[in-house]
Amino acid sequence: MSTTTTSSSSNAPRPGGSAPLGDHAVARVGYGAMQLERLRGDRDAAVSLLRRAVELGIDHVDTAQFYGDGLSNGLLREALRPEDGVTIVSKIGADPHSGGPAPMRPAQKPAELRASVEDNLRSLGVDQIPVVNLRRMEGRVSIPVPDDQIVDLDDQLAAMTAMRDEGLVGAFGLSSVTLETLRRALPAGVACVQNPYSLVARDDEELLELCEAEGIAWVPFFPLGSAFPGMPKVVDVPEVRTAAQALGVTPSQVGLAWLLHRSPRTLLIPGTTSVGHLEENVAAGDIVLDASTLAALDASVPPAAGSIA
Ligand SMILES: NC(=O)c1ccc[n+]([C@@H]2O[C@H](COP(=O)([O-])OP(=O)(O)OC[C@H]3O[C@@H](n4cnc5c(N)ncnc54)[C@H](OP(=O)(O)O)[C@@H]3O)[C@@H](O)[C@H]2O)c1
Repeated sequence: MSTTTTSSSSNAPRPGGSAPLGDHAVARVGYGAMQLERLRGDRDAAVSLLRRAVELGIDHVDTAQFYGDGLSNGLLREALRPEDGVTIVSKIGADPHSGGPAPMRPAQKPAELRASVEDNLRSLGVDQIPVVNLRRMEGRVSIPVPDDQIVDLDDQLAAMTAMRDEGLVGAFGLSSVTLETLRRALPAGVACVQNPYSLVARDDEELLELCEAEGIAWVPFFPLGSAFPGMPKVVDVPEVRTAAQALGVTPSQVGLAWLLHRSPRTLLIPGTTSVGHLEENVAAGDIVLDASTLAALDASVPPAAGSIA
């Protein structure tokens, strides 16, 4: 499935080769724009980082209106040009909530989903969002979910399908869903699934396997264990550190390479504010893990939250 075709404007090889995302072929190493919030005070640095990503062949960027209350989308609009050929994937199901107890609040109702797509279209400055993930409030949810925000999946799928038919979105995916939800949604056509998954979070193996069987892109979020303090980190896994030392690469690169090896359907969206880390993440697309290294990584046990190896 992987190829080494180049991305549109940079002529750089697609990092990690390419794999399908709906009707698009994208680099298997992409970029997650959530961390751009941390560059709020340095817009030039954020734009330079995004330009460097394009130069390196990245042509798949994950975003949301609720990342910095439009900040990440505005930066993408400023930094990216149509000729860059970047497939932007946004997500809906929550709205920014500046001044609230959390920076976002659930917005799961069909009319709210449509309003969120319209907000994304405006802030990204596009007529169509190539892919939009419906972020469900299933599983572990870190924000309060009032009863009226528990919305039937079929009603949401009807809204997503209507927006796809109207051309507001090119395709849609699902985020933070259970195996059962994905099974129910399959007839509607699902381009990708975005759930937390990494060497330290492997609860969703069955979901991954269903994505493989159905030809759906698997786009793990928190591929390194997130930037949140207290959550287990991939770089703290002893087997990851051992492999990194043996290969002369960084522990983060081993964690990303493992995800790429885990499934040909995997598309990476690591988040970073650092050009150096961005370059390392792209280079992780070239790392080959042999069978014994993979076996050791597969057998590793996630460290307890907050622990350091
Ligand atoms: N669907 C959803 O509900 C959902 C939820 C959360 C996130 N997401 C998406 O998933 C993307 C990835 O998740 P994430 O950004 O939260 O977490 P992540 O990619 O697992 O980790 C990001 C953290 O890793 C660090 N990092 C990145 N590359 C590194 C490297 N080469 N070496 C050392 N440290 C490195 C970053 O710090 P530096 O800035 O210092 O590099 C940052 O602290 C997000 O950006 C977002 O687009 C989706």
